[in-house]
Amino acid sequence: MEQVQEKQLVGEYAAKYVEDGMIVGLGTGSTAYYTIHKIAQRVKEEGMKLTFVSTSTRTTKLAQTLGLTIHNINDVPEVDLTIDGCDEFDPQLKGIKGGGGALLFEKIIATSSKQNIWVADRSKKVEVLGAFPLPVEVLTFGSSHTIRKFEKEGLNPSIRKKADGSVFITDSQNLVVDLHLSQIEDPEGLSIWLNSLPGVVENGLFLGIADRVIYPKADGSIEEVNA
Ligand code: A5P
Repeated sequence: MEQVQEKQLVGEYAAKYVEDGMIVGLGTGSTAYYTIHKIAQRVKEEGMKLTFVSTSTRTTKLAQTLGLTIHNINDVPEVDLTIDGCDEFDPQLKGIKGGGGALLFEKIIATSSKQNIWVADRSKKVEVLGAFPLPVEVLTFGSSHTIRKFEKEGLNPSIRKKADGSVFITDSQNLVVDLHLSQIEDPEGLSIWLNSLPGVVENGLFLGIADRVIYPKADGSIEEVNA
């Protein structure tokens, strides 16, 4: 199965966990894209009454074009369920997110959610996190000094650029610095250290957040792993 078909398969499948009346967090990325489409279809066909919050400007725009209204996260007491993609997940369902640069809003929404489901193609399943560069959202003020601290720790940082060569700026007007680590032996320790630096806004390690990961097996059937 092609990667894009895997994304569609699990993305659409996960929409079945949305129940009438829920406050739903909409994820960001090419897999969550299919979930959002499927949810919009269910709203139309089944007349479901749902309240939505969004993890990025990109997702807000997509949802609105599908006729869904996005609420401010500050206006909801708690999110019932968030369905989002991930860049890597390990056997304990620890993960890396932020490949699309939306890690900050994604983490705020995820940690405000009663339940988090990740939808992933097979390439995201790893034994040890770190082959995917770890995104870190960094304040532009003093960023050269923040980045030097990453270099001193041997974290191989690079400032994320867009395809046209310009610097990628997040929805909160910050930089994304990708750390090229190959393997992350101590994700908890690294996450705590990164977030202790004043110029770091948030990092892309999502630890103890996912309750369930849905991904396709080689034979095309769907595997669901619970934390
Ligand atoms: C967005 O910032 C990311 O966390 C995405 O959720 C992640 O990159 C997964 O993206 P795809 O579903 O496009 O692979």
